[in-house]
Amino acid sequence: MIVLKNVLIPHGEQWVKRDVIIQKGVYGEISESIDERPLKDARIIQGEERYLLPAFIDPHVHVREPGFDYKEDWITCSRAALKGGASSIFDMPNNKIPVVNYPGVKEKSEIASKKSYVNFGLYAALTDKNIDELKSTGMQGAVCGIKIYLARTTGNITVTSGSALLNVFNQPKPVLVHTGGIEGLKKVLFFYEKASKHFYVVPVLYVCHVSTGEEVALLRKWKKKLPSILAEATPHHLFLNKEEYTGLKGVLPPLSTKKDVEALWEGVKDGTIDLLGTDHAPHTVEEKRGRVPPSGFPGLETAFPLLLNAFKDRRLSLNSLLRMTSGNAGKLFKMGIGDGVVKGGEADCTLVEEGEFCAGEDGYETKCGWSPFHGWNLGFKPVLTVVNGFISYENGKFYRNPVKNLCR
Ligand code: NCD
Ligand code: ZN
Ligand code: ZN
Ligand code: ZN
Repeated sequence: MIVLKNVLIPHGEQWVKRDVIIQKGVYGEISESIDERPLKDARIIQGEERYLLPAFIDPHVHVREPGFDYKEDWITCSRAALKGGASSIFDMPNNKIPVVNYPGVKEKSEIASKKSYVNFGLYAALTDKNIDELKSTGMQGAVCGIKIYLARTTGNITVTSGSALLNVFNQPKPVLVHTGGIEGLKKVLFFYEKASKHFYVVPVLYVCHVSTGEEVALLRKWKKKLPSILAEATPHHLFLNKEEYTGLKGVLPPLSTKKDVEALWEGVKDGTIDLLGTDHAPHTVEEKRGRVPPSGFPGLETAFPLLLNAFKDRRLSLNSLLRMTSGNAGKLFKMGIGDGVVKGGEADCTLVEEGEFCAGEDGYETKCGWSPFHGWNLGFKPVLTVVNGFISYENGKFYRNPVKNLCR
C-alpha cells in the first residue's frame, strides 16, 4: 500500500490538496486527511504539494529493439518513459525487420515482457499483401493497432495497394497512419470514408504527427463528419519551429513554421488535436551528424513536463492536458487509467515537482543520449512514477515490477 500525503490532484479545472491511497493497483480512499498511523506496511510519501497526475500514456514510440538496439532497447526506452512520467508505451513496427506478421509480434512481445519497465502495446504494419494475416485471430489478439506508412520514412514499408487501404478498415483494431503530408492525409481520408459506407463498423483512424495548419483545418472539417478520427501532435511540432530550431536536424514530418505551430495550438484548444504522441524516434548523435542523417527525435523524457509547462502558461486547460496525455489514449486502448485520480481507477500515476529543471542536466536515459530540447528549462519534473500500483521510478532510481502487455 502507498499513501501519498498532501498531493495536489486535478479536480475539474482546479487542483485540490488530498491524501491518496494506492492499493492493489487502484486508488483507494482519497480524502482531505487520512490517518496513516494504523496502516501497517504502508509506504508513506510526503507529497508536499507536488502534483499527482495520471501517468502519461505514449501511443507513439519507436523502441528499436529488435534490430536497431544500438540506438535504443526496451530497457533504456522504458526507463526514459518512467523518467518522463509515462507508465505505458505503444511501439511502432518499423524495425530493421518490420513487424508485419504474427511471429514478428510474438518475438517482440517476448523481448518486451522480459525487459520493459512499463506497460507496453505493439503495432503491426500494413503491407500491400498482409491484410489476411492482420485480420487473423492470432494477430488480433496480439496487437493494439495497425500502422500504415503512406510515405517513405525510417524502414521501407510504404503501402500502395488500394484494396489493402480499404480493407484495413474492415477489422476492429485502431489504424494509425503516417501520411507523409496533406496528400497522404487526403488519400487515407478517401479510403476511410469509403470504408465507413461499405462496412458495418469501422475502427478508429489515428492520424500521427499532425504538423501543419492545413492538416489541422482539414481534420477539423472531417472530424465533424467522421467522429472516430483521432489526431496526434508531437512535442517537437508543438514546441519547436523551423525558423528557430538549431539542434540536431532531421525529423518527419519536418518542423513547421511559427504560423503552423500556432494553428496546431488552436487545434489543441478546440479539441481537433486529441492526443500527445512523442514519436520518440532515437538515432545516435553520430548518425545525426553524418552525411545522410536519419529522421527522428527522442521525446519521452521531456514531453509531459513540456505540456505541463504549456498548461502553466495557459496554452491549454487542465482538462485538455489530461485528455492529451492519458484520457484519450486510455479510452482508445480500453485501459483502466484515464479517468483521472479517482477512487477505483487504475493507479498508474506520476508525482511531479515544479521548479527549474533543465533538460539533460542529469543526463538522459534514452540510449541515444540527446534531446532536441537540451538545456530548456522544462519547469516540471516527474519524481515518482507508479506502474500497476508499484513504484517503478523514484528520484532517479528504477525498480523492475510486473508489467502488462496491453494487447490482450
Ligand atoms: C521515425 C523513425 O525514426 O522511426 N522518424 C521520424 O522522423 N518521425 C519514423 C516516423 O515516425 O515516421
Ligand atoms: Zn492531509
Ligand atoms: Zn511517422
Ligand atoms: Zn513515428
